[in-house]
Amino acid sequence: MEINKTLENLRIDYQSASLDIKDCDKDPLHQFDKWLKEALLAECDEPNAFILSTVRGDQPRARVLLLKGIHHSQFIFYTNYKSAKGNELAQNDKVAMTFVWLPLQRQVRIEGVMTKVSHDLSDDYFQKRPRGSQLGAIASPQSQKVESREALEKMFADTELKFKGLELLPRPAHWGGYGVKPTLVEFWQGRNNRMHDRICYEKSGDSWELQRLAP
Ligand SMILES: Cc1cc2nc3c(=O)[nH]c(=O)nc-3n(C[C@H](O)[C@H](O)[C@H](O)COP(=O)(O)O)c2cc1C
Repeated sequence: MEINKTLENLRIDYQSASLDIKDCDKDPLHQFDKWLKEALLAECDEPNAFILSTVRGDQPRARVLLLKGIHHSQFIFYTNYKSAKGNELAQNDKVAMTFVWLPLQRQVRIEGVMTKVSHDLSDDYFQKRPRGSQLGAIASPQSQKVESREALEKMFADTELKFKGLELLPRPAHWGGYGVKPTLVEFWQGRNNRMHDRICYEKSGDSWELQRLAP
C-alpha cells in the first residue's frame, strides 16, 4: 500500500446533521452536556476522551486525557501533579481541550484557564477508582524516565505490598484533579462539501457571545 496515495484519497462526506445559532443553548456548558450525552447514546468509543494542549515555553504539547466531571462550570480531569503536564500548568495555566466524536461528525474545542480542584473533590474521585488504578497512581512517577518495564512492574509490586491489608488507600499528594474554566468553546458539525457548521462562544464579561465561523 502506498500510504500517501491512500491518504490523499481518504475522504468521507459529512451530512448527518447541522448546527445553527438558533439551535444552540445560551450556555456552552449546557450545549456541551447535550452533545456529550448524544455521544454516549451513539456509543462513541471513549466519548469522554479529549486532547489537552499545554504550552512549555514556546512549545505546544498535547496528549489524550479523560474528562471525569463538570463541576462549578469547570471541565474536570485527574492526573499526576508532578507529570510533564503538571509542570507545564504550573508555569502557564492557559490550556486547550479538543473533543472529537467521529461517528457524529462533531468536534468541540475549548480554551480556558486551569486550576487545581479542591482536595475533597480529588479525594472523593480517588476513592471511586478501582484499587489497581489507585495503586498505579501512587506507584507511577508519571512522565519520568524509567529503566525498563521490569522496573515499572517493581514499583507497582512494592506499592501493592506496602499497602497490603489496608482497605482504603490514601490519595497521594502528587495526584489529583484540575478544572478548566472555559473562555472560548467552539462546536463543529461536519456538513457536505466541507461547508461545515462552526458555532463559537466567547466569554464577554459574565455572558457568552455566539458567532458563526467559516469552515
Ligand atoms: C484514551 C486515553 C486516556 C487517558 N487518560 C488519562 C487521564 O485521564 N489522566 C492521565 O494522567 N493520563 C491519561 N492518559 C495518558 C496521557 O495521554 C499521557 O500519556 C500522560 O498523562 C502523561 O502525559 P504528560 O507526560 O504530558 O504529563 C490517557 C491516554 C489515553 C490514550
